[in-house]
Amino acid sequence: MKGNELELFARCASGFEKVLAGELKGLGMRRVRPLKGGVAFFGQLADAYRACLWSRVATRVQLVIARVPATDADALYQAVLSFAWEEHVPKDATIAVDAHGQNDALRNTRFTALKVKDAVCDRLRDVHGARPNVDTREPDVALDVALHAQRATLYLNLSGTSLHRRGYREDGVQTEAPLKETLAAGMLLAAGWQDIASKGGVLVDPMCGSGTLAIEGALMATNRAPGLLRDRWGFEGWAQHDADLWGQVLTGAYEAIDDAADVLVLAGDVDPSAIAVARQNVRRAGVEAVVRLFVDDAARLGRHLRGPRFGKGATGETTAAGLMVANPPYGRRLLTQRDLPHVNEALSAAANALPSSWSLALITPDTSVDTALGRAPRAIIDCYNGPIQAYVRMYALDVESRRACDVVSLGGVRHNVSVAEKNSAQFAARLRKAAKERMRWARKQGVTCLRVYDADLPDYALSVDVYEGARRDEGRRVAVVEEHRRPASVDTRRADRRLADACALVAAVLDVPREAVISVPWQADAEGTGQTLVVEENGLVFMPDLGDAFESGLPLGMRGVRELVRAHARGGAFVNLFDASSAATVYAAAGGASTTVTINAFAHDAHRIEEELKANGFTGKRHRFVREDPLAWMEREAKGGRRYDLVLCAPPAKLLAKQGMELVRSALSLVDKGKQMILVCGDSKIDPSGLDEVEVRDVSAATLPHDFERRAARHRCYVLKNVADWG
Ligand SMILES: C[S@@+](CC[C@H](N)C(=O)[O-])C[C@H]1O[C@@H](n2cnc3c(N)ncnc32)[C@H](O)[C@@H]1O
Repeated sequence: MKGNELELFARCASGFEKVLAGELKGLGMRRVRPLKGGVAFFGQLADAYRACLWSRVATRVQLVIARVPATDADALYQAVLSFAWEEHVPKDATIAVDAHGQNDALRNTRFTALKVKDAVCDRLRDVHGARPNVDTREPDVALDVALHAQRATLYLNLSGTSLHRRGYREDGVQTEAPLKETLAAGMLLAAGWQDIASKGGVLVDPMCGSGTLAIEGALMATNRAPGLLRDRWGFEGWAQHDADLWGQVLTGAYEAIDDAADVLVLAGDVDPSAIAVARQNVRRAGVEAVVRLFVDDAARLGRHLRGPRFGKGATGETTAAGLMVANPPYGRRLLTQRDLPHVNEALSAAANALPSSWSLALITPDTSVDTALGRAPRAIIDCYNGPIQAYVRMYALDVESRRACDVVSLGGVRHNVSVAEKNSAQFAARLRKAAKERMRWARKQGVTCLRVYDADLPDYALSVDVYEGARRDEGRRVAVVEEHRRPASVDTRRADRRLADACALVAAVLDVPREAVISVPWQADAEGTGQTLVVEENGLVFMPDLGDAFESGLPLGMRGVRELVRAHARGGAFVNLFDASSAATVYAAAGGASTTVTINAFAHDAHRIEEELKANGFTGKRHRFVREDPLAWMEREAKGGRRYDLVLCAPPAKLLAKQGMELVRSALSLVDKGKQMILVCGDSKIDPSGLDEVEVRDVSAATLPHDFERRAARHRCYVLKNVADWG
């Protein structure tokens, strides 16, 4: 095949197509086109070998063999059968076929792969006289089929097993969450490490784990081909493999190694066992000459930046150019979400120890790192690290682009808080003003759990609730920052930064430890954080789940409604419908209800109400929890003719919008003659005033707490009295 131009395709992690295209152009490939999931290019056989051996970002290099019709299984089989497979698969070679994609006729990739394999085998049986064997683990020739609409592209996998398997990582010896080598290399290329290395620069990874970023950086700096340690290639079993030519490409790669490269790679980790693994990997990769390892906290990076390279130039700035990279723990596989502020503080301290001419690149799913660094990234690559959606965030470390706000907390403590968005200073000022006024009010009223900020600035559309701990949590203070729905027009990256800035400022302004600020992004899942805090409200004890985006168990905006429940509950049978918060039931019990029943479909609420009733001294059979869909329960009760003295009906907005007055009527049918229902209908437009035989009192204003006044338009509440004359 020497001399012929081959059509090739290199695959890579999504997000790195442009980086790979740049790399392939640099390797001299032709007609390079970044596409989704990889890069199309052309080259001769030697180029294909060089792409396999030298690409640091590609996970696989494929030869495009054919494009065939694939309208259905038969058409695909016939087209593949007619292809000259004997030119690619030697006699007695084993094969494997993998398929991706689907169309209307070919929905199952396994079936597609089977059809192609059958056609290839049938063709080879006709030509060679025997069918080739299939070996899915270590085939001599591996074929890939990609289905797009009515066509299939057939590829021969030239590189073999994924190119991230460089060969310097020993199987079974690794730290907990190593980065894929191809991803690490992509990140380094995107951050401009090659250019910095060529100027004799420094690479630092202060959270290096098994050392992947450091080793990839050292391989680049010493011009080592990343594939030199691999012992198997996909093309070795291919009929057109040219062993001499491959030998020349290999020799060229050995000759290109530049062990005299004037660079330094510094890699540290707080965990000595990670450094032990990194040391072995560095040795196997052959880059000990340029990599220096150390055990320390990233926050103390400054003390490791010593030596001639860090000497000062005429302007007082260090002479070496440099890049810091890190793949910090994500709070998922390693550490927990609560540790993230500490990780970010360590990263920020490390970055602040670096010369301002350096740059920084991080791979993390945590967008709040910008706030900790006090910088907005100059570029972001959306990618996946394994199954986790992450970002490569790249920053310049110049002094001018660093942002921070000076704030004085309500307790009088001065802070200089790093933020990523310029306008966050305005948020800090507004938060302080609003919180000061509301907290003064709260102190007078004896309220200890309150809303202190409610989208007072349109760009910072979030609410901030503060909860003071009581009893066993006396002295703890937690703040919940909950983002409101993001309109489609909002720049999500800026919105992420504003939320993270807000959390940092809430901690500083409200004198709350950073790890006690719970961030609830608007698309957070409903599971909550499981962080309960014992609090008091009007002398009663509650244990809200503070990170739950939907229902904490103590919705603060319902405080006034709960007080109304207590005022009306004396001596009667109380029903708590829909209200996921068990709190209203506790108020009813405290108000002297003879019995209470709470109907809710969720088990965790059952547990909470039991605990809360008990904590307030209400035990026994008089208080029941029914774990059932409230609609079904209502229907059964109505059929059985059961009536109650006080019903709290606080349906979810969506249900109320769907069922409207029909729902209100069904709930009313449970109310005894002369008795009442409290209807909470949020911002729903329903109007119960037209109901027959019902006296309606609008108590919206009376039940709206002062700290929720901004929500007046979204708080509708009525007392409906059953005045039916049943004769
Ligand atoms: C996700 S791992 C890095 C994995 C690495 N990129 C690799 O490929 O193996 C994060 C590393 O950060 C380290 N780490 C966490 N907090 C640290 C701190 N404050 N200072 C230094 N290292 C830290 C952990 O010990 C862990 O090895």
